[in-house]
Amino acid sequence: MTEAKAPYARGGSAKDASVEEAGLRFEVDGEIATITLARPDKRNAQTFATWSALARIGENLPEQVRVVVVNGEGPSFSAGIDLRMFTPEGVPGQGSFGSVARQDQASFDSTVERAQQGFLWLRRPEIVSIAAVQGHAIGAGFQLALACDLRIVADDVKFCMKEPALGLVPDLTGTKPLVDLVGLAKATDLCLTARVVEAEEAYRIGLAERVVTPGELAQAVQEKAAQLLSTNRDAAAATKRLLRGAPGRTLEEQCAAERAEQGLRIKALFARGE
Ligand code: ACO
Repeated sequence: MTEAKAPYARGGSAKDASVEEAGLRFEVDGEIATITLARPDKRNAQTFATWSALARIGENLPEQVRVVVVNGEGPSFSAGIDLRMFTPEGVPGQGSFGSVARQDQASFDSTVERAQQGFLWLRRPEIVSIAAVQGHAIGAGFQLALACDLRIVADDVKFCMKEPALGLVPDLTGTKPLVDLVGLAKATDLCLTARVVEAEEAYRIGLAERVVTPGELAQAVQEKAAQLLSTNRDAAAATKRLLRGAPGRTLEEQCAAERAEQGLRIKALFARGE
């Protein structure tokens, strides 16, 4: 298994070869970064190179970025892992599930951990990530949408956690946000049946914040980005830290965390020059 060659140039460039080789485009416009899955002819199927490139984007994200949009070109957001992984030949230069199966446990763990790093950074407090999802979001595609803080979907969306149907488990960080968003019973239903969730249900169960037509998707995401950028940057990061931490804390602990964050905010806003 090899990684995409070189990290993209610091600051990001749509022309960077390694990102492009991994089937991605990365663009930065002021405080908004956009990651585009750009293999529409293959329904934006993902490989280990995709995940490694995503991790590098996260590691090198320009400091000014506050909103990260993840979208997919063409009719599908992403049809999940590249099915060539299931074949003996695998994905050229990246191996196959057969070769992964021959790894020792430590190498296997580090392979999957690296892939997970491509998803985890999208939850960072300093940014808000928005998945713009049209058409199919299957397996790794569903998990990439789940890795984002918000999902704005087109009315043709089809989410499907297909891994259990293929004998696998979802391991690209998707199980926790799925349970957090829809609850344990619904997450069990969706994963263990591998059934398709369409737009109306996605909105109703809290998977999607907003449903629009495919033609309105880009504009709806831009509007949300503008709303997100209208709040104070440091207060937004602190508030996201509080919200992310809330499920793991007692009420008392959460109150203490609120006091701590507010203390920092008030000092930053009002104690200057003293
Ligand atoms: N991996 C590799 N290639 C794919 C994948 C994939 N996951 N999905 C689609 N493609 C390719 C097809 O082979 C086809 O290539 P070709 O034109 O060279 O023959 C092209 O993309 C278009 O695919 P179609 O099936 O023709 O497109 P359509 O829009 O009719 O269907 C759909 C889209 C429903 C997404 C279908 O392609 C599909 O079911 N894909 C497989 C989904 C899947 O099982 N993913 C794995 C999930 S598990 C996980 O992610 C861990």
